Amino acid sequence: MTGSARTRLLDDLSARFLREFGGPAPRVFFAPGRINLVGAHLDYNGGDVLPMAVDQGVFVAARLSPRPQLRLRSLDQELAVDVEVAQVGNRTQPAFGWAGYPLGVWHSFRDKCALAAGVDLVFGGNLPMASGLSSSAAIEVATALALDALHDTRLDRQTLALLAHRAETGFVGLRCGIMDQFASALGKAGHVLLLHCAGPRWEHVPFDPLACEVLVMDTRRPRHLARTGFNERVAQCATVHELLRTHVRDLPHLALYTLADVEAAKGAIDELLFRRARHVVTEMVRLASGVAALRRHDYQALGQALNDSHSSTAGDYQVSCAELDVITDAARACDGVFGARLTGAGFGGCAIALLRPGAGATVPLQVAAVFQRRFGVAPVFDLLRAGTGPIELR
Ligand code: GLA
Repeated sequence: MTGSARTRLLDDLSARFLREFGGPAPRVFFAPGRINLVGAHLDYNGGDVLPMAVDQGVFVAARLSPRPQLRLRSLDQELAVDVEVAQVGNRTQPAFGWAGYPLGVWHSFRDKCALAAGVDLVFGGNLPMASGLSSSAAIEVATALALDALHDTRLDRQTLALLAHRAETGFVGLRCGIMDQFASALGKAGHVLLLHCAGPRWEHVPFDPLACEVLVMDTRRPRHLARTGFNERVAQCATVHELLRTHVRDLPHLALYTLADVEAAKGAIDELLFRRARHVVTEMVRLASGVAALRRHDYQALGQALNDSHSSTAGDYQVSCAELDVITDAARACDGVFGARLTGAGFGGCAIALLRPGAGATVPLQVAAVFQRRFGVAPVFDLLRAGTGPIELR
């Protein structure tokens, strides 16, 4: 995003806030979206993931209010939500729409800290919504940071990430792992996050923007089945983990088994569950080789880990779709592309490609031509950088 586009966005945010709620100027907070380089669907299986907070995300203008009410607005969503503090409940409702995410964070916060009356919030941002770049986690983490600052509760970043995660699993009802909220809350410019989800423990690994760039390719295909398909995968993994515990050995997480373990249980599990487990255990191996490649700045080998991850995510895990397969194949066929895969949960939305610097001038044109011939739709491209974690803007 250019400096002037960002200034315009911030001006719009403040203007809307003052128009809606009047009074003194709000404070403004930012939290980033993320891509995941490799480690698909490993977080809820106790595995490792390699996400990168990006330099785009969600901004929120926020101010405490003396009235016992939460008032939520968005520059990008028509729905405006006003809800009495006493009416928030333990679960989101259809009437809350997009506001279920920030309301869920407020709910987790209220459980942890004694909150003052109400709050007024206006959201805006520059991430494509619901496309696999974690706009929901960015909304949650931005809200968590805003509530923390407004109430002066001084929680650390891990706690903010956990509150945001609880909003998603408890209040919104998506059985996701911790990757998205941790990636947003712990982002560090010029680095990716190696997150061991079972701890959780993490470290930041440098990512050299002069050696490799990240191209996001938005297929603009809505993420059909994202919620039901996602929760179904989580349930399948829990079932196959139980079978492995009974038939092979007792380990606390599915991601800790080996391919030999999964093959040893082949007679006891059906074909579909076998494939889900095979994706998880082999993705851990791809993750390890991707991390090793990143540490030695071998972006060609990292790209190969992305390609292999996509094949397994599409084949054994079955969360890809024709649009994601075509766009990643088209990218791989271009000069200067190290590798490509879908990002996020899959089922539509965005893919990423790792590029040799400079290739960003030609790759989008070539990929767009192939994609448009096949689907009659123009994908949207963006070169992203590894951005900072959540911050208050001054
Ligand atoms: C979604 C979830 C994450 C993770 C990814 C798949 O983004 O929110 O927790 O499971 O899918 O890797």
